[in-house]
Amino acid sequence: MKIQNLGRSGLKVSAICLGTMQFGWTADAETSHHIMSRALELGCNFFDTADVYSSWAPESYPGKSEEIIGDWLHSGAVRRDELILATKVRGKMGPRPTDQGLSRHHILAAVEASLRRLQTDYIDLYQLHAPDTETPLHETLSALDNLVQRGLVRYIGCSNYPAWLLAKSLWLSDVRRMASFTSIQPHYNLVHRAEFERELQPLCLDQGVGVIPYSPLAAGFLTGKYKQGEEQPASPRKAGIEQRHFSDKKFAALAVLGEVAAKQQATMAQTAIAWVLANPAVSSAIIGANTIAQLEDTMRGAEVELTAEQKATLDAATVWE
Ligand SMILES: NC(=O)c1ccc[n+]([C@@H]2O[C@H](COP(=O)([O-])OP(=O)(O)OC[C@H]3O[C@@H](n4cnc5c(N)ncnc54)[C@H](OP(=O)(O)O)[C@@H]3O)[C@@H](O)[C@H]2O)c1
Repeated sequence: MKIQNLGRSGLKVSAICLGTMQFGWTADAETSHHIMSRALELGCNFFDTADVYSSWAPESYPGKSEEIIGDWLHSGAVRRDELILATKVRGKMGPRPTDQGLSRHHILAAVEASLRRLQTDYIDLYQLHAPDTETPLHETLSALDNLVQRGLVRYIGCSNYPAWLLAKSLWLSDVRRMASFTSIQPHYNLVHRAEFERELQPLCLDQGVGVIPYSPLAAGFLTGKYKQGEEQPASPRKAGIEQRHFSDKKFAALAVLGEVAAKQQATMAQTAIAWVLANPAVSSAIIGANTIAQLEDTMRGAEVELTAEQKATLDAATVWE
């Protein structure tokens, strides 16, 4: 497994980051523990969660994914300093208006709660899950700076930020001499390109902000298991995939992905991951897996090297996005 720096920072992360949104949702605690242990064996040293995961799932609640990770850490499955652990703050963690958002009030409470659930005394990468337009940016960034100064958090990042807000955040941290964002977590894959490529990508390359895209398989669409006009696999992701991706042009792009994969003697999932990792702005791709078989299949994508011609073919097939 390739290990590379997260953006311009000195933090070394694996090219595959294990996402844990499905823990406590489509993967129970025991399966989740197996998935984490196997990911580690395969060379993945980087896990991503969020305080709010997986609050939407039946019989789950906000904080469950962090609890599952905390129990696994506590079992001694890995030395704490061998794992780069990322989590996020912003989502709704309780019924009160103060139980969400990016106020100093909520961030200070939320980090303590995440540390408790994760059974650790520091978080490697603490990320803002999405912007909060009701809180002044300076209040949020100074709260994060305070966490870094106290050693509770080692690096900070953001997710789902538009380029203008990332640029403003970097500027504000700089002029006020506060800790600044090491990374951004955007939604990015072969069939969802423009949101990242148009403005965020050049900004991240210029400023050395590490990029850790989420949903590199488009939630499973890019594995090729969703077929036009056929019965679709049973997955809680299905409705979102149908709404977002079921179009002639996206199925045509899938066909091209299948052809490139066949030439590479790789699966479509592996080829989709290889395409994301071929982007020079990308430090690590955050994947999701419900089973060991899915994990092993997808992780092998980090070993697939696309030729310039294959990359150009895939780029041309999805240029509309
Ligand atoms: N910052 C944010 O706002 C945000 C948003 C979303 C996700 N994330 C992060 O990104 C992580 C990954 O997101 P994602 O789950 O959307 O990623 P993804 O890798 O695009 O999709 C993962 C899903 O695809 C299916 N799958 C995975 N590997 C497969 C394989 N080899 N063969 C067939 N199917 C396979 C599984 O769903 P089925 O088994 O159900 O088909 C799996 O849950 C999350 O866990 C989370 O950490 C962040």
